Amino acid sequence: MIGNILVLILVLALVFLFGWLTYRAVRARKLWVKIAGGVGAGLVTLILAAMVFLGGKGIAVTYFPDEPTAPDLTVAGTPDQIARGEYLVSLSCVGCHGAVDASGNPSGELPLTGGWNIAEAEGFGFMGSMVTENLTPGGKLAGYSDGELFRVLRHSVDQAGVKLGFMDFLPYKELSDADTEAIIAYLRSVEPAETAVATGDKMNFVGAVLTGSGMLPPGGWGAETITAPPEGVTAEYGQYVATFGECRGCHGPDMTGVAESAMSPAIPNPRPLVNELSQEEFFEMMRSGVKPDGTTFPDTMPWQNAAKMTDDDLAALYAYLTAPVK
Ligand code: HEC
Ligand code: HEC
Repeated sequence: MIGNILVLILVLALVFLFGWLTYRAVRARKLWVKIAGGVGAGLVTLILAAMVFLGGKGIAVTYFPDEPTAPDLTVAGTPDQIARGEYLVSLSCVGCHGAVDASGNPSGELPLTGGWNIAEAEGFGFMGSMVTENLTPGGKLAGYSDGELFRVLRHSVDQAGVKLGFMDFLPYKELSDADTEAIIAYLRSVEPAETAVATGDKMNFVGAVLTGSGMLPPGGWGAETITAPPEGVTAEYGQYVATFGECRGCHGPDMTGVAESAMSPAIPNPRPLVNELSQEEFFEMMRSGVKPDGTTFPDTMPWQNAAKMTDDDLAALYAYLTAPVK
């Protein structure tokens, strides 16, 4: 944060410098200096001024987002909560927060020590780094209250109230209060483990300018309380399964695919394919990673996580993906 504010001040100083040069050029006696110098220095001044404006805005929305207060909350940590939390974490979080292998890529395996620089992996490392956090009590979460951890998942801000670069784009803001608490219960229950690399966000000034320009608009705040739809093999509950199963995080809020963006390559609409399949064939595909045409899902489609879903959850997901899009 301090670094970005210093760059902002530096660019602001350059705005004044080039503004002054523009003024000098325009007042010069020679006509060519007036025109070439005035236009040249004037343009540079405008570009720098735009950077100050956008970078300043990006810094404001990231570091000073006027975040909701963390709820006053103590999670009981019952065996039921821990089991539910373990299930939820195994379906989604572990894909990004699992331990990294020697090459720095996520293994999808426990422990939840993180350390994956997802900004670099996804090709937007020019904005800074976004490294998945250690979610075990051996990491920074040990210093979070249950309410602060709840706020991370519901609103995507860290303990100090700073917007999280990547979590903000994931659908966990829509998890029910009960499931959010179950995840907290589970994370508190695992063995502490340490992470070898520095974790968390380090946005640079380019990232601040892009954020301020609205190219990567920060998400809004989550609702104060959320109740899940009644559990069952229904399209409505299936949409909720697609939320905690992370499908919507990649395939878009309605699971109709997303176009390529700075944050992600294009992701297909899975509905046409799923609509052609029986529920049995859908189960088979999601559990084997092999599509009916015999091709396997590439690494970019984390079917291994979905393969861990219960029959009822997969059936609900099938109902959702074959129902009309609302
Ligand atoms: C697609 C990858 C991805 C998934 C899936 C994911 N996270 Fe994250 N998470 C990140 C990244 C990257 C960070 C680092 C901060 C940032 O850029 O958002 C992070 C940071 C965090 C933090 C640290 C917040 C802080 O205060 O610094 C917590 C807690 C967290 N994630 C919990 C979870 C939980 C729980 C799940 C599953 C419900 C989950 N994450 C799923 C990528 C992911
Ligand atoms: C990390 C991002 C990510 C997540 C999470 C994810 N997917 Fe995918 N999915 C992809 C990508 C990328 C492809 C395209 C793979 C390819 O090129 O064949 C894909 C392909 C698919 C396809 C095949 C579509 C077709 O026509 O070939 C289906 C079905 C699908 N996903 C369903 C799901 C479901 C259900 C979930 C949740 C349990 C899910 N996906 C979670 C990224 C993701």
